[in-house]
Amino acid sequence: MRLHAVLSRYAMLPLVAIISCLQLKSQSIQVTIDSQAGKPVINRNIYGHFAEHLGACIYGGFFVGDSSRIPNSAGVRNDIIDALKKLKVPVLRWPGGCFADTYHWKDGVGAKAKRPSIVNTWWGGVTEDNSFGTHDFLNMCEKIGAAPYLAGNVGSGTVQELTEWVQYVNFGGASPMSKMRKDNGRENPWNVQFWGVGNEAWGCGGNMTAEYYANEYRKYATFMSDWGNSSKLFRIASGANSGDFKWTEVLMRDIPHHMLEGVALHHYAVIDWNNKSSSTAFTEQQYMSSLKSALKMEELVTKHSAIMDKYDPAKKVALIVDEWGGWYNVEPGTNPGFLFQQNTIRDAMIAGVTLNIFNNHADRVRMANLAQTVNVLQAVILTNREKMLLTPTYHVMEMYNVHQDAALVPVTFRSPDYVLGNDTLAAVSISASTDTNGNTHISLVNIDPARSHEVRFSAGNIKHKAISGRILSSPKIQDFNSFEQPDKIRPVPFNGFTNTSDLVTIKLPPASVVVLKMN
Ligand code: AHR
Repeated sequence: MRLHAVLSRYAMLPLVAIISCLQLKSQSIQVTIDSQAGKPVINRNIYGHFAEHLGACIYGGFFVGDSSRIPNSAGVRNDIIDALKKLKVPVLRWPGGCFADTYHWKDGVGAKAKRPSIVNTWWGGVTEDNSFGTHDFLNMCEKIGAAPYLAGNVGSGTVQELTEWVQYVNFGGASPMSKMRKDNGRENPWNVQFWGVGNEAWGCGGNMTAEYYANEYRKYATFMSDWGNSSKLFRIASGANSGDFKWTEVLMRDIPHHMLEGVALHHYAVIDWNNKSSSTAFTEQQYMSSLKSALKMEELVTKHSAIMDKYDPAKKVALIVDEWGGWYNVEPGTNPGFLFQQNTIRDAMIAGVTLNIFNNHADRVRMANLAQTVNVLQAVILTNREKMLLTPTYHVMEMYNVHQDAALVPVTFRSPDYVLGNDTLAAVSISASTDTNGNTHISLVNIDPARSHEVRFSAGNIKHKAISGRILSSPKIQDFNSFEQPDKIRPVPFNGFTNTSDLVTIKLPPASVVVLKMN
């Protein structure tokens, strides 16, 4: 048995809701709900996404061009816009990734016929004709209802270039950049708040040391705004690679905090970078290795947060996990540079446990961006010409969107183990929140593919008249939605609970994600 002391520090706060989970007997968890409202609020941007000029994410994914037979709005597929609206995507990061540090934004504005074609050196060496640029992205975000997050070019760009991009999209007065924007058809600025100052500066963004990057950051951040940051830009420093804690330490130490709103972190669930294995034909041992790597996010967020606490006890600077998700070998026969993979129940488990981790660390994690939205890595949408399907990961993100902007109800519980050979992992993951309408939502994941687990909730002083729920599961962890069977895996009503007086008993089936609503 392993103890999950998740956010137990909130138990010290008098008005904070507490769920204390006590082990009653083997494989049964009792949950007592003890108070009315939780803190902190789960920032909706934890449910963010990421779209890079990579493979068929933008071209052939989001963007088919306005002459396509596929129904579109200014070249962006209507079915994708609708699906992402339903998902309540709060924020979308673009144009990279590694691509961002080779991207020169002026190549992607103005008359499309005059835009230069370049080579996408990071991803497949394909021709990038720049037909999808700043206007296309920002107008698409408006249609989806998502806040844009622009990743600026530090690796091969200049301070002037990034400063001018900020002015081009945000300046309402008279200036050469705002004139250019108006000449290109957009009168009013978009007022983009979120700005990445480079990407993976330790790697594809320039192979810099943390100290060198911290200096570069200070220079860029200075000229992106005025000294008082009166435009309220949210500047995000390129963050650590997984367990590179020194990187976070140096950034927090060397960058004045009035110039820094967020520090990023990237962590992918990978079995072995040299042998990532198939996205669909995997063994249970490989399943366990993937989940182990995904669950490492708990340790990473805890340790990076502790470093940030040392320099910023008031938690002013946010931890932004702007790339996360499962990463496998590409599907056989596809371009290795396009990172196209299928999405199975394993990915639903990765999404469920990772989002629970982010929810439970909502005091410091205030944005996260799943990599990537369409046709790349742990995508929520796959397309094949006119066809489109929603992956199991889409469904988990949709089920969980009830947590957006809701008050965290911290949980402490002891999970049974999921055991395979000599390996053990916590089988059950839980997070909970209460929304502004007084509904409490509890999201539960059982990653154990063979055993169900029982969870008992004592409703305590959460007054509720009704409980309902939805479940996502499938007989095999390798199951996925294909273009032949696009709805094989989708959420269905969940009836696997009993609700007697103040005790709710839930039977969590193997490899399942359940979201309960108490109202
Ligand atoms: O998401 C794919 C790539 O992974 C991104 O471009 C890069 O930032 C990361 O290494």
